[in-house]
Amino acid sequence: MIIVCPKCARKHKVNPDIIKSHTGSGKKISATCRSCSHRFPILLDQVMDTAEATREDHRPVARKICVTLSKGGVGKTTTSVNLCVGLALAGYKVLLVDTDTQGQSSYILGKKPSAGLTELLTKELTPEECIVSARKNLWLLSGGKSLAGVKRIIDRKSFGAEWTLAEALKPLERRFDYIIIDTSPGWDQLIVNVLFYATEVLVPVALEVMPLHGLSEFMKSLGSIQKYRKEIELKYIVPTFLDTRIKGPESLYSQLKRLYPEYVTTPIRYSESLSEAPSFGKSIFEFAPGSNASADYRELVRKVSLNENALA
Ligand SMILES: Nc1ncnc2c1ncn2[C@@H]1O[C@H](COP(=O)(O)OP(=O)(O)O)[C@@H](O)[C@H]1O
Ligand SMILES: [Mg+2]
Repeated sequence: MIIVCPKCARKHKVNPDIIKSHTGSGKKISATCRSCSHRFPILLDQVMDTAEATREDHRPVARKICVTLSKGGVGKTTTSVNLCVGLALAGYKVLLVDTDTQGQSSYILGKKPSAGLTELLTKELTPEECIVSARKNLWLLSGGKSLAGVKRIIDRKSFGAEWTLAEALKPLERRFDYIIIDTSPGWDQLIVNVLFYATEVLVPVALEVMPLHGLSEFMKSLGSIQKYRKEIELKYIVPTFLDTRIKGPESLYSQLKRLYPEYVTTPIRYSESLSEAPSFGKSIFEFAPGSNASADYRELVRKVSLNENALA
């Protein structure tokens, strides 16, 4: 921490722990400049505020992972929410950003936020006012119908429309270990914004009919973004709805592994519990902790966090 002498402007490096030991003591503390010997009071509140800010400045930027695929019903929202809750349970600080007009994430987490991503993008409220605490270590920036209006605002921008989301989320980046962004199906300006913000892409692929077609279409779209934004890369392909009772999904899974061996993760098995949990406002870890789906999402948490002891 740096303290500046008010008389000669000499900067002094001070150990923040020494200052910290005086906070709360009620005593006034002062310092003597080693250069001009001027004695001056130190305003603890101001010093600690600066120290806090400096610490936050030095925190690494969150990993920014978007969960996306143009096709609907493949498990994007289910995966986003359960991955977030799992990472939060493992002790990481997580922000879930819901960019879908359906606002499903709030419902699954049993929350009814009065503000969210819309108010952040329109700058009606500060980032702190837009996020809500959803669980220990987990915060939510909710989506919903009002995002439709925001899309129109983004569409009308003449310059830098694709960076709107990145600019809005920047003040929050150092507060979290992970920022996970759930997206809507289809392809629109908001998804382009997400791909200009995230650096890692997680694609859930439902092991049902024709999943590979949707995936190769998405790869093309991602390629067109990567021409302008080198930082974004495909990291995980998560097979979902694996039903081991029938042959089709198993063979699709083998096909996926053959085509994309470096990206395919352990699949999420088909589970009734996953479709039931949302109506109770619960994640799979809360609703059916002993289920196959809970075990599969725990495995995904370990894979993404590179922490094999997470939730073990
Ligand atoms: N592995 C699974 N097994 C059974 N049902 C699932 C599974 N994953 C998701 N679901 C259910 O399928 C539906 C679509 O999933 P969702 O996550 O909303 O997809 P998306 O966000 O891609 O549209 C939801 O009702 C969800 O509860
Ligand atoms: Mg969804």
